[in-house]
Amino acid sequence: MSLRSSTTLVLALALSNSAYSIPTVSSQLHKRADYPGYTYPSNGNCRDYSIKSTQTTKDLIWSYPRLENDFDTAALLFNITSKDDALGSFQPFNDTKEHSAEYEISGTFCSPKALKGNGTEKTVLVATHGFGFDRRYWAPEDEDYSFAKYALDAGYSFFYYDRLGVGKSQRISGFEEQASMQNALLANVLEGMHNGSYTGSVKANKLVLIGHSFGSFYSQALIAERPDLVDAAVLTGMAYGTNSDPAKIIQLTSLSTFASRIANMRDSDSAPQFANTFDNGWLSFGDIYAYAESFLHQPDYDVEVAKSSFAITQPFSIADFASTFSANLDVSKFHGKVLLTSGEFDLVLCGGNCTSTFAGGVQEQVWSGLKEPISTYVLPGAGHGANFAKNAGLMFAEIVRFLNAL
Ligand SMILES: *[C@@H]1O[C@H](CO)[C@@H](O)[C@H](O)[C@H]1NC(C)=O
Ligand SMILES: *[C@@H]1O[C@H](CO)[C@@H](O)[C@H](O)[C@H]1NC(C)=O
Ligand SMILES: *[C@@H]1O[C@H](CO)[C@@H](O)[C@H](O)[C@H]1NC(C)=O
Ligand SMILES: *[C@@H]1O[C@H](CO)[C@@H](O)[C@H](O)[C@H]1NC(C)=O
Ligand SMILES: *[C@@H]1O[C@H](CO)[C@@H](O)[C@H](O)[C@H]1NC(C)=O
Repeated sequence: MSLRSSTTLVLALALSNSAYSIPTVSSQLHKRADYPGYTYPSNGNCRDYSIKSTQTTKDLIWSYPRLENDFDTAALLFNITSKDDALGSFQPFNDTKEHSAEYEISGTFCSPKALKGNGTEKTVLVATHGFGFDRRYWAPEDEDYSFAKYALDAGYSFFYYDRLGVGKSQRISGFEEQASMQNALLANVLEGMHNGSYTGSVKANKLVLIGHSFGSFYSQALIAERPDLVDAAVLTGMAYGTNSDPAKIIQLTSLSTFASRIANMRDSDSAPQFANTFDNGWLSFGDIYAYAESFLHQPDYDVEVAKSSFAITQPFSIADFASTFSANLDVSKFHGKVLLTSGEFDLVLCGGNCTSTFAGGVQEQVWSGLKEPISTYVLPGAGHGANFAKNAGLMFAEIVRFLNAL
C-alpha cells in the first residue's frame, strides 16, 4: 500500500545505543506446516520450489513493547489510527541494523499443459500475494476464482510463492519480518527466473510481476530497486490517492477495519490455519465479517466463496505493515508497461471508491517513466479482494488483454 506522504514517514532514529541486538526467533517458529488446500491448477504442469538464500538487509528495529494480549493490540491499533499518527507520532522503530540470515521461501511454477504455439509460455508471471493470504490467493481450489488457471489457459507461465513468514515459507517473528527482506527475496527469485533455476523446462524471455495489495506494493518496491529485472507489472488491489483523497486516511485505519487480533490467540472458528506457529507479531482478521467488510463487497460475492476464501487466510506481520511506510517506491526509472486494477469498492486502498481515486491520476505521476501511459481498470462491484468477486473473470480477461499486447 502506498500510505503517507514521505514527510510523515521519516523515522526518528536514535542511534546512540549500539548494544541493541536483533532478538532471535524461537526455533519452533521455523517449523513449517503441512498445509491442506494447495492444489495445482488443473491446466498446468507444475512443480514446487523451496528457495533458500542468504540475504543481508538493512532492517528496522521494533521499539514498542511486543504485544502480549489483545489489549496491547487495541492500544497499537489506536496508535496507528489516531490523527496524531497521520502527523507522524507512530514511530514503532528506533534503529536500523544490517542483518544477514538464511531464508527459505516456498513457491510453485506452472507452465501451460496446452501450449499456444507462439511462445507465450516464455512470458512468466511472478505473483506476490498481499496481507492476509498466502500463494493460494492466486490458485484457490474453486478454479472459477483462480487467476493462475486463467493465465495458464491464455498460454502464460505462472510462478506464485508464499511471502516470507506465511504459508509454507519459513516462519519469522512478526516484529521482524519486513519490507527489506521481502524485497531482497523477490529480487533473488527474479534472478533465479532469469537464469532458469525456477522455471521448470521453460526459458523465460519476459518477466511480469503481478501483485495483490501489499504484493503490488512489494512489486513496485522491487521495480524501484531493480528496474532491470522486470518487463511489465500488473498491480491489483492497489491505488494512489491525491493528498486531498480521504482514501489516504482510510488506508491508515485498515488494520482496525480488519479488526486485527493476535493470530495465535483466535478462537478456532476465526483462527487462520496453523495459527499457533506464528508469534504475537502476527495479527489476523477478527472474524469473517471483518474480512468481508475489508475484502469483499455485497452483493458481488457468494457467501460460500467468502467462507472458502476466509478459510485460507493467513496472518499478517505488524513490522511488515509499519516498515512499508519507509520503503523506496521511486519507479521513475522504469520504462516497461504497467496495468493498475482494483475493485470499484476497494475499501483498503481507495476508501471504498476506486473510480474517484483512479480519476485523481496520481498513478501517472508515480509511473512517470513508462513507454506508454499506465493502463487502469476498475472491476465493477468488487471489493479489495477482487479475485473473489463474482465477476472476477472480467478483470482476469482485462489482465490477459494487457499481457497479449506486451
Ligand atoms: C529501541 O527499543 C528497544 C525496545 O524498546 C530498546 O531495547 C532499545 O534500547 C532501543 N534502542 C535505541 C537505539 O533506542
Ligand atoms: C503507543 O504509542 C505510545 C507512544 O505514543 C507508546 O508509548 C506505546 O508503547 C505504544 N503502544 C503500543 C502497544 O505500541
Ligand atoms: C541463479 O540465480 C539464483 C538466484 O540469484 C542463484 O542462487 C543461482 O546460483 C543462480 N544459478 C545459476 C546457474 O547461475
Ligand atoms: C465514486 O466516485 C465517482 C467519481 O467521483 C462518482 O461518480 C460515484 O458516484 C462514486 N460512487 C459512489 C457509489 O458514490
Ligand atoms: C498466441 O496464440 C493464441 C492462440 O492463437 C492467441 O490467442 C494469442 O493472442 C497469441 N498471443 C500472442 C501474444 O501473440
